[in-house]
Amino acid sequence: MPERIRTGIPGLDEILHGGIPERNVVLLSGGPGTGKSIFSYQYIWNGIKNGEPAVFVALEEHPVQVRINMSQFGWDVRQYEREGTFAVVDAFTGGIGEAAKKERYVVRDPEDVGLLIDVLKEAIRDVGAKRVAIDSVSTLYLAKPALARRTVMMLKRVLSGLGTTSILVSQVSVTERGFGGPGVEHAADGIIRLDLDEIEGELVRSLIVWKMRGTSHSMRRHYFEITDKGIVVYPNKVVKIGRTFSIEETK
Ligand SMILES: Nc1ncnc2c1ncn2[C@@H]1O[C@H](COP(=O)(O)OP(=O)(O)O)[C@@H](O)[C@H]1O
Ligand SMILES: [Mg+2]
Repeated sequence: MPERIRTGIPGLDEILHGGIPERNVVLLSGGPGTGKSIFSYQYIWNGIKNGEPAVFVALEEHPVQVRINMSQFGWDVRQYEREGTFAVVDAFTGGIGEAAKKERYVVRDPEDVGLLIDVLKEAIRDVGAKRVAIDSVSTLYLAKPALARRTVMMLKRVLSGLGTTSILVSQVSVTERGFGGPGVEHAADGIIRLDLDEIEGELVRSLIVWKMRGTSHSMRRHYFEITDKGIVVYPNKVVKIGRTFSIEETK
């Protein structure tokens, strides 16, 4: 049995029957506003505060904004950056702007996946990362979908090879039921899908573990909430989406 990396997200490790098997590369897919970024911040935070160093790759937002977003949930990463157990890889600014000059790990050309991987490797080695989150990998192949699978495979070799357990955020459109990009779902070791469905005039959040190499897991669609302390998953609340809709308490 592989070692588990506990996400620390309330309710999720129960659904994963203990956590994410070590070295797995997990695709976290969902539409806009489904909680992908918050999930990845929480995963990283739960690592660093428990002595598991981590790296966050910022492709969608300015690294400064990432730190602000995290602090809004009470997750202040600056101390860990100073201590050298957490690093943000800036794959957003391209080194442009005053704030970017203060960043330690800058990808000069964020379009260049090879370069990004070099900077990522350096950050992983420097902090001794056990966890990595990339938000989002979709950005790397939006313009060239045919490269999606290859890009994910390249990342997987590095991430798994260096012993990290990682979350790759994957964007899908509001209506799409897929996982984002041709073939990426096959390259990933795991898939967690976040959803937001409008039901009778109300948006309801749910999460499903579609695939997780190395473990059994819940096969149900679980209700979750985003609170000011982050994501809370309810293992006993199953969401049924079909012609009718309900949230049912089980057990
Ligand atoms: N403090 C909070 N309490 C409750 N919900 C929040 C809070 N902060 C953000 N959210 C919800 O989280 C959503 C954004 O989540 P995010 O992880 O950025 O989505 P994604 O990355 O999937 O686009 C917002 O649209 C809002 O609904
Ligand atoms: Mg996001």
